[in-house]
Amino acid sequence: MGNMTKEMYEQRMEQEKAKREIVKSDPNRLRFHLQPPVGWLNDPNGLCQVDGVYHIYYQYSPFEPLGGTKLWGHYTTKDFVHFKDHEPFLYADWRYDERGVYSGSAFVEDGMIHFFYTGNVKLFDRDDYDYCNNGREQNTIHMTSKDGFSHTEKELVMTNSDYPADMSTHVRDPKIFKKDGAYYMVLGARDVDSHGLLLMYRSTDLKDWTLFDRLTMPDFGYMWECPDLFELDGELFLVFSPQGLEAKGWDNRNVYQTGYCRLDYDFDTKEYAFSLFQELDRGFDYYAPQSFLDEQGRRIQFGWMGMGDAPYTNAPTIERGWQHALTLPRELRAKDGHLYQTPIVEIEQLRQEKYESSIADFADPGFGKSYEMIVTFAQSAPFSITVDDEATLAYDGSVLRLMMNEGGYGRDERGIEIDAVKNIRLFKDTSSLEIFVNDGWTVFSSRVYSTGEPSVRIEAQGEGTVTMYALDSIE
Ligand code: FRU
Repeated sequence: MGNMTKEMYEQRMEQEKAKREIVKSDPNRLRFHLQPPVGWLNDPNGLCQVDGVYHIYYQYSPFEPLGGTKLWGHYTTKDFVHFKDHEPFLYADWRYDERGVYSGSAFVEDGMIHFFYTGNVKLFDRDDYDYCNNGREQNTIHMTSKDGFSHTEKELVMTNSDYPADMSTHVRDPKIFKKDGAYYMVLGARDVDSHGLLLMYRSTDLKDWTLFDRLTMPDFGYMWECPDLFELDGELFLVFSPQGLEAKGWDNRNVYQTGYCRLDYDFDTKEYAFSLFQELDRGFDYYAPQSFLDEQGRRIQFGWMGMGDAPYTNAPTIERGWQHALTLPRELRAKDGHLYQTPIVEIEQLRQEKYESSIADFADPGFGKSYEMIVTFAQSAPFSITVDDEATLAYDGSVLRLMMNEGGYGRDERGIEIDAVKNIRLFKDTSSLEIFVNDGWTVFSSRVYSTGEPSVRIEAQGEGTVTMYALDSIE
């Protein structure tokens, strides 16, 4: 049973072989970001490192650039410079995930990877079909693997009737967190009154799970997707993607948000307090990130460089048969309760030709469509950086904004209030921009589809330096 078994996938892939070549020839294909070989990609899933190999799985609909039945696509790398594209790792081939292998995560212990994900089932045949309240099953499923390629049989861990009775059918995206010898599984959820919340289950063996707690905040959206609970710098953080937050000034301007709270949580008394929600990224295309601890102890996070249900969904890549990408892998660091994001250091190996100048003497070195640009300001003062006449990052002394022209396909303006801008590290790939501000204090991630000659300009009232590198591709 299932909507996309391995056999169905192989047969159709054989029939549609030519599509891959069309995708490859797309001038908007990215050079140093992970993207679907063909079709649609959304959330990063199952991130882990075993025996030196990093596994990066992702939500994948190989035959539909607008999304369809989800499988888990699969990339591996040992160094974040060379990547291998593998056959999908999980197929929608079981009664409990027949309408899609939804998002999930990996937990590695004693050389064994435990995968937990949400099996999506749609109950179209119900007479009283209601997508939110009875129209589907959200099954929590577990399997294990030693190598990240083959896996044991899928086991059903929980289904709708196992979740609290006041849950809608939106309960998904399991992630594991270990504390004092016990395992905690967090799931994002929406209750029947449309309040977003976090369900927390506890286990001592990764097999039997009992409801431990439910955490929420008043007036904080109708659904919390993709929760990620982890400790960093001795503090507990919850990264999640709440839906239904109201826009306020420059905050929460995307259709859905992604951010984090510090969580003060007493595992004995279950008393808790969330700190103020902070958006992780101020760009147009950033959602559903997931992090993991690598073998060196770094907390590495990938996000989906995309946005579900955004008004700007007519990307020119669609007619070439593909859509979306993952962000650069970012290392997370906590300082004074704030999460800083920086591209992992391996990215520096992609650097080729170098250019250096003062801001005043800057002349575009013509590095083409993919480069890194580092601007260090001697003093914070208004400035603007314009890329391809399509995207402008501008600071007026109090607000830093990213503004887009036609190449944004409907993306207009995003921003953040900020007292001082000390440095900018901008990564331009063929059709994307990631701009790290003040050592990763905040980031703007966006797609941009430029057509003219590549160009970059900077104007600034203050002084400073510019360093640029042409960047190599990861393939
Ligand atoms: C987030 C999300 C998850 C879900 C997956 C389905 O983008 O909606 O909640 O598991 O995508 O592809």
